[in-house]
Amino acid sequence: MDLSTSDHALRADLRRVIYALSDALDLVGIDDIAHGKRVGIMAAQCAQQMGLTAGETALLFDLGLLHDIGVSSTVTHYHLVAEFDWESSQGHCEVGHALLRDFAPLAALALPVKYHHTRWPTLLEQGVEREVARRANLIYLVDRVDAMAAPHYADGSLLLHVPRIRAQLAAHANSYFLPELVDAFLVASRAEAFWLNLEARGIQAYLADMLAQGEPYAATMHELRQLATIFSRIVDAKSPFTAQHSLGVARLARFLAQRLGVGADNCDKIEIAGLLHDIGKLRVADEILDKPARLDERERALMNAHSFETFLILRLIPGFAEIARWAACHHEQPDGDGYPFHLPGKALALEARILRVADIFQAMVQDRPYRAGLSADAVRDFMRELAGRGDVDAAIVAVALADLPGAMAAAKGRLSE
Ligand SMILES: [Fe+2]
Ligand SMILES: [Fe+2]
Ligand SMILES: [Fe+2]
Repeated sequence: MDLSTSDHALRADLRRVIYALSDALDLVGIDDIAHGKRVGIMAAQCAQQMGLTAGETALLFDLGLLHDIGVSSTVTHYHLVAEFDWESSQGHCEVGHALLRDFAPLAALALPVKYHHTRWPTLLEQGVEREVARRANLIYLVDRVDAMAAPHYADGSLLLHVPRIRAQLAAHANSYFLPELVDAFLVASRAEAFWLNLEARGIQAYLADMLAQGEPYAATMHELRQLATIFSRIVDAKSPFTAQHSLGVARLARFLAQRLGVGADNCDKIEIAGLLHDIGKLRVADEILDKPARLDERERALMNAHSFETFLILRLIPGFAEIARWAACHHEQPDGDGYPFHLPGKALALEARILRVADIFQAMVQDRPYRAGLSADAVRDFMRELAGRGDVDAAIVAVALADLPGAMAAAKGRLSE
């Protein structure tokens, strides 16, 4: 692992960032982590069948990748895949719409996300604009196909189930789906290749093709911060115990970095790392994350994998190498007893050690559903105890304690300056 830290402005292709972060959404499937990608690939294959433009095909592909951006709960994901028409499906559509509508580069996806569990006749009754309605309904269609196909990917039996899946879909023309979309799906899905593209290696090849075709789009820092904030909200929404945790960690990490003389460009990067540091938690089952008692050994192992999952996602983004390492190391300890790399303090970048302090500090001061966050006195005592044991960097703790009200305000989402 390269541990050097440089200080250049953050540059990244927005498309690469979006593709990598869409991996995080798929983690909510726990054992089946390609739902969004398969929906995107099926939507694009149907678009090609209908002769739609390359631009529209790419938009539908992206819409497929991101359509479940409102799902952070593993229980919600389970219902959506296990039931053809789950009565509570609209909730995640509304959340997804709210997350996307104010982010200009993806704003065109917001309304189709809102309507991706609405039946075609209802879309017409509600007077939803035709273009939005078609995009939303195509995603609904292929999403339901994936729900029916999902149990059969792992054991290699998918092709045996294709006739039944196609027949079931055809039976929902008119009542759920625009008939011409059903027709396009039925023609495209006659080919075995349509289905084989949905297996792991087919997915990788398809993704690589889509990335190669798209135009690079150099994201501004403002756009990267907005996108990272969207994903931080998805992670933080997973549990009432973590509401605003990532946002608070990002703000406190920047606050500490500025006081420790970190350059302006790395202060930007540490803020992004703070927003995304727990993104790997999307793969942790709700019942583990919300367990009111101590975790058993197996649950602890699943929980502790989250910082490495974060690393796997972020390291795929060209330009994010440092962000990926810092975020991955937020549970590393100066004494070498942390995880997942067991790196000693001298091998950890200052920014990684800052994130570690910010992560623990924010969790202590965060208000919880049934209790207020810890008082300043309690935070001071506890941070000193951790520093004394070698769990966190004592010099960074000292900086936080030197302006404790300012650090607490930053951790709670209010900056004092
Ligand atoms: Fe879905
Ligand atoms: Fe964490
Ligand atoms: Fe955290």
